[in-house]
Amino acid sequence: MLMSDFFCTFAPKIMRIGVFDSGYGGLTILDAIRRELPQYDYLYLGDNARAPYGTHSFDVIYRYTLQAVKYLFDHDCALVILACNTASAKALRTIQQKDLPLINNKMVNVLGVIRPTVEAVPAITKTGHVGILATPATVSSESYVLELQKIFQNLEISQQACPLWVPLIENGEHLNPGADYFVDLYLRQILEKDPQIDTLVLGCTHYPLLLPKIAQWIKNNGKRFAAGDIQVISQGYLEAKSLADYLRRHPEYESQLSQGGSCRYLTTENADRFSQSASLFLSAPVQAEHIDLE
Ligand code: DGL
Repeated sequence: MLMSDFFCTFAPKIMRIGVFDSGYGGLTILDAIRRELPQYDYLYLGDNARAPYGTHSFDVIYRYTLQAVKYLFDHDCALVILACNTASAKALRTIQQKDLPLINNKMVNVLGVIRPTVEAVPAITKTGHVGILATPATVSSESYVLELQKIFQNLEISQQACPLWVPLIENGEHLNPGADYFVDLYLRQILEKDPQIDTLVLGCTHYPLLLPKIAQWIKNNGKRFAAGDIQVISQGYLEAKSLADYLRRHPEYESQLSQGGSCRYLTTENADRFSQSASLFLSAPVQAEHIDLE
């Protein structure tokens, strides 16, 4: 018997948590999850070649998301987190109800980011006036409004689509002076709809990368447009806590996961470009691999 056969036979199987987004935004979720649950092995997939998703129709978002989810299950993921509000709003339910039972006979599941975010809102708002900043697809799905109203009937909810924020981030322009115009545009629009808003939900996983500009805008302009102080909710920490809780309640999934603390990065775009940008966003070196999703 060769030494390599020995290692092949007895090497422990890696079972990962898959984290999927249309592009770089899901890194904000991955980062928070890995801080909370560093022991597991992760596989990140960014469909950067086809981002942004947020301006596509339901059919396209569902088809792209399903391709990504299948890819992750075929590459040793037992759980997939849709670290993308657009995919969570448009594709999660159909995938859970229609596709999961057909994907294979393994024990696998897909989780989204909207529910854990919604559950945090009532503890934060004092006025009961809440603003949702999200992609056009998430806004038109009304997912936030419906989920919030299911749990809390007395909220005043306003939504604002921010179609140009994701392209700014995907193109690395989000901290440059040109981004100020678009930060001002959408924040001004949502507060003009309802100046009583005291809680703004960043309902897109890309948006925390704009947080320095958003915080600066609120500091400079908040008093002019809003009646009181404004809290901004970003999702990473909430999703991390929710996943930890899910794994505690579901040992049938937790027990499948390997605990090597590793993370691989996949992108449908150029791997060097992804590695460079992701290293900046995560403040840690990333070595990505290119894949095709068709
Ligand atoms: N990060 C995705 C989300 O949370 C992005 C969107 C996009 O590709 O438009 O909605």
